[in-house]
Amino acid sequence: MTKYTVPRGTRDILPAEVALWQFVEQKAREIFRLYNFREIRTPIFEHTELFLRGIGENTDIISKEMYNFQDRKGRSLTLRPEGTASVVRAYLESNLHKQEALSKLWYQGPMFRYERPQAGRYRQFHQMGCEVLGAVSAYQDTEVIALAQHFFETIGLRGLEVHINSVGCPICRPVIKERLKSFLGDNLNNLCEDCRKRFETNPLRILDCKNPECNEFFVMLPDISDVLCAECKEHYHDVQNYLNIMRIKYMVNPRLVRGLDYYTKTVFEVISSHLGAQNAVCGGGRYDNLIQELGGPSIPAVGFAFGLERAVLIMQNQKVTVPGRTPYLLLLPLGENAGNRAAIFANKLRRKNIPLEIDISGRGLSAKLKTANKLGVRYVYILGEDELVDKCGQLKDMRDGRQKKIRFDKFLAEMEKKYKKDNRS
Ligand code: HAM
Repeated sequence: MTKYTVPRGTRDILPAEVALWQFVEQKAREIFRLYNFREIRTPIFEHTELFLRGIGENTDIISKEMYNFQDRKGRSLTLRPEGTASVVRAYLESNLHKQEALSKLWYQGPMFRYERPQAGRYRQFHQMGCEVLGAVSAYQDTEVIALAQHFFETIGLRGLEVHINSVGCPICRPVIKERLKSFLGDNLNNLCEDCRKRFETNPLRILDCKNPECNEFFVMLPDISDVLCAECKEHYHDVQNYLNIMRIKYMVNPRLVRGLDYYTKTVFEVISSHLGAQNAVCGGGRYDNLIQELGGPSIPAVGFAFGLERAVLIMQNQKVTVPGRTPYLLLLPLGENAGNRAAIFANKLRRKNIPLEIDISGRGLSAKLKTANKLGVRYVYILGEDELVDKCGQLKDMRDGRQKKIRFDKFLAEMEKKYKKDNRS
């Protein structure tokens, strides 16, 4: 028989792990709301051209990682590799920029990149991200960094580092590239093949090489922040000033560059030592030219996205626990008549929003009580055939094991009272 497996680079998220995902998603939604972001939802595929134009043709994403396909009319479409280009497209297409000076949007969903799979790196992965469109002030850069840090704190992650850098703008970037090229040009033989290729196409990306031999050599690299133009220097200074007054811990990392070409000025990443080689759980920065590049007016913007797989992986490594989602009550009928009665109770209690399970199987009481333990329920209501005659059942408190008789006509009100009380405390 053929055995079907998930495609390479994708994975199933099974119920035990989904609890962590739901917790992360819920906390992120709360934080976005706290910082006044509104949700936007865009399609999972877009015209290929959007990403070619938006992300930059010399990036790894465009040159080798896109999931492109043709539809039946021969149009080239692409499964989105990231969210920013789509948000900008939607923002322009719906004329949001004409309706408000500042748009603060967040999004979530699967992204697709044909990368070499490894721990924390998948071909289908999930991001939650936010974009501030109309972000004139350096304060906005700091606000999104503050939001990211606040969020990771809220989900209980420890030991994360925020790294920041400035990659300049179209005025100073050519000078930065020249400075790098003149240093690297004499030493090309010491670099790996990838770096030698990037030397021609995208020299800034050389800084991001993970090859240990290249890394040894990079210690001697010139500091690119020296050659920023006056405006970029001032902006970088202002961002750091805001970070300082808001008491946000960060590290200046002159080697931080990003894998997408749209960034100008500030770039940042949140790094964890619990992730192995793929150590960034979150990345972002300013992109002052992308909106114009995609056919809109000149509007500056800043944002970030974090990877859910990586956030959850750190939680697992750091043994962060989240409130469980177990049923509150298990109804345990013994016999057919008791089963009918329990089905009526289940129907009524669920309409009162009490999460419960009913074990309608023909198994005996002790086997059914084992299920109750496994589920971790708070109460079990046992309905035996004998008790049907008295019109009552036994309510067992699974915390202390105590059991008491409760009449059928009192049971619904009693459960409601208990559930309310337990969920208040
Ligand atoms: P990015 O750095 O490419 O930025 O991705 C952001 C985050 O997504 C990464 O830090 C990582 O946690 C996660 N991620 C990326 N690739 C993978 C993968 N193959 N497997 C698992 N997780 C992955 C962006 O995508 C930008 N759009 C962020 C941004 C928003 N910049 C401005 N606004």
